[in-house]
Amino acid sequence: MDKIRKCLFPAAGYGTRFLPVTKSMPKEMLPLVNKPLIQYGVEEAMAAGLSGMAIVTGRGKRALEDHFDISYELEHQIAGTDKEWALKDIRHIINSCTFSYTRQIEMKGLGHAILTGESLIGEEPFAVILADDYCVTDDSGVLAQMVKLYEQYRCSIVAIEEIPREETYKYGVIAGDLEAEGLYRVREMVEKPAPEVAPSNLAIIGRYILTPDIFDILRNTPPGRNGEIQITDALMTQAKMGRVLAYRFKGRRFDCGSIEGFMEASNYNYTHLYRKHKA
Ligand code: UTP
Repeated sequence: MDKIRKCLFPAAGYGTRFLPVTKSMPKEMLPLVNKPLIQYGVEEAMAAGLSGMAIVTGRGKRALEDHFDISYELEHQIAGTDKEWALKDIRHIINSCTFSYTRQIEMKGLGHAILTGESLIGEEPFAVILADDYCVTDDSGVLAQMVKLYEQYRCSIVAIEEIPREETYKYGVIAGDLEAEGLYRVREMVEKPAPEVAPSNLAIIGRYILTPDIFDILRNTPPGRNGEIQITDALMTQAKMGRVLAYRFKGRRFDCGSIEGFMEASNYNYTHLYRKHKA
């Protein structure tokens, strides 16, 4: 099967940068104005034509499952009032998508979280969204742009953006050969390199399309930096075979895993979406 139908959401991380709120609440449920990060992610996946949402959760993440379910009491309470519209989008999501969940028991890194999702994905190419990277675009969403590319190239694709050189230590960084405008065939990939040794300033952000052989590769990938299984290490195995593209997406990303990025995104959405919608 070649069509991309499913999107994996690794959402098991501790979200320590947001403590204390993340002590009992998943980071992915933090709202930009009134909608949680994970819902923006699901909406982006839907806009790319995907309908199977596979979520890797962990302890204390039950709110994620409740969000994508019907709340009978609440819905009964607001039925017929002017508040009903507020649940329109989420109801549409619940009716159009299937949601499946699995738990990552130990937080052994993003690569390990993706491998944990294997039982929800199976033998087909799939997308990955890290919901704490929130992306806005003028036209089609970032994942829709990537799915289109996948249909042409049929290999793994990572989304990249240019970052200030001094920030390379926060990201997976690539080097590659230009394949088409904004598209590189990846030659090298390094997880969180110091600026002096980074192969470029092109950083991987939280959008991926992965071919299913990634699961076997991940199984055989030893823990890397910080003792975690890194998706970058597994992707490097595919890249050595010339099977990874890096795509400079059209749009803007907010790093909502950090307080600063989260506040910027909140202000942006309040001004550009919420107030406009209310006007
Ligand atoms: P982060 O590096 O942002 O880690 O993970 P974190 O735990 O969420 O946040 P901080 O750094 O403690 O504040 C990137 C993404 O990978 C997922 C996270 O949920 C997040 O979406 N992840 C990371 C897992 O699902 N499992 C892991 O073991 C690690």
